[in-house]
Amino acid sequence: MQKLRIRGGKPLCGTVRISGAKNAALPILCAAILSAGKLTLHNVPQLNDIGTMLKLLEQMGVSTRREGETVILDAANLTNAAAPYGLVKTMRASILALGPLLARFGKARVSLPGGCAIGARPVDLHIKGLEAMGAIITIESGDILASAAKLKGAHIFMDIVTVTGTENLMMAATLAEGITVLENAAREPEVVDLAECLIKMGANIHGHGSDVITVTGVASLQFADHTVMPDRIETGTFLAAVTATGGDVHLTNAAPRTLDAVIEKLRDAGATITTTSDEIHVVSNARPKAVNLRTAPYPAFPTDMQAQFIALNAIADGTAIVTETIFENRFMHVQELVRLGAKIDIEGNTAIVAGAQKLTGATVMATDLRASACLVIAGLVAEGETIVDRIYHLDRGYDHIETKLLALGADIERIN
Ligand code: UD1
Repeated sequence: MQKLRIRGGKPLCGTVRISGAKNAALPILCAAILSAGKLTLHNVPQLNDIGTMLKLLEQMGVSTRREGETVILDAANLTNAAAPYGLVKTMRASILALGPLLARFGKARVSLPGGCAIGARPVDLHIKGLEAMGAIITIESGDILASAAKLKGAHIFMDIVTVTGTENLMMAATLAEGITVLENAAREPEVVDLAECLIKMGANIHGHGSDVITVTGVASLQFADHTVMPDRIETGTFLAAVTATGGDVHLTNAAPRTLDAVIEKLRDAGATITTTSDEIHVVSNARPKAVNLRTAPYPAFPTDMQAQFIALNAIADGTAIVTETIFENRFMHVQELVRLGAKIDIEGNTAIVAGAQKLTGATVMATDLRASACLVIAGLVAEGETIVDRIYHLDRGYDHIETKLLALGADIERIN
């Protein structure tokens, strides 16, 4: 199993190019199912989750071709409207195939994702929404079996803001008969990127980016060409790392407008951040100050940045209160940080982080994707050597992270 060895204490300096967004690319890859025409995507990140999604689409009969960061998909000959457990269990986002399969083929068999390290994460709202559109859905042998001769537009209210739920229903609605209104829809930039790609394919969508999305069904979707938005969580992770270690870094191919909540918190922590439309410059030359935060749906502070900010607060001046409101079990990184000398107490969904003067290297184990990023940041600031074990989580969501950190001057290497 691969690990990362990090010798901490070096500031990060230089330029890093941000990759395309994993959480935008995954639903957009599934959107290919909706059309018999080719979908050409640019700026697709090189990640294990993307590889898993391409495998899933290939076993359905979608032809896929990857040339660097460009992926060309052709679902003209899709024959198998199914997502088996073997692939779904490694990546929950496989559920995003359900809406498109049902909309284009009138049937789908998609394995239920089950639990995951950061909480129960049910898919009841995906199912309820599709049922409101006329689908008949049963659960058999752990699989969701869905059928509908033709989906019908519906008025759907989601009582919790769900990102992939909104994406699944928005994709299904593009080919439904009539108008679908999604209320309390997710406003995440990745939902907007998916909507923009669907519109290029011929879909009729309004209101994306607000909490009411209206989709008027069309008869079919066509070929399109789309560039995936920059990854705001990768961007935020590098910004938090520089704020923690100190340094001076330019981030290119970024989308600062999608990171307001994160940038504001980093400025509160003491970082100097300036932005243009697609670049961010971060400078940090003092010990960061502790920052309180509370995760919530976009545009508030993202749950996917909570772990990285716990690492930042672990060495900050002062005590921070960090409240997680999206996932019930998302503090698995805390016990690992404690092994490095962090002083953190958990009370329910709140972490109280008393900033320590220093962290000291140790062996730690990554438990999920963003927890891994948190441990890498902690390793970059800790004195001595930190070994981060189980980095396959990191490879699911960070494109060449150690190569990028190495180029910024970090002492980091991948070991077997
Ligand atoms: C997406 C992101 C993930 C991010 C999360 C929250 C992708 C591929 N993943 O995950 O990185 O952490 O948004 O920003 O885009 N819920 C229900 N019923 C449902 C669906 C969700 O109760 O049918 C609950 C979940 O358990 C959770 C909350 O809603 O408590 C938000 O989850 P959701 O937005 O659906 O997360 P994902 O879309 O899975």
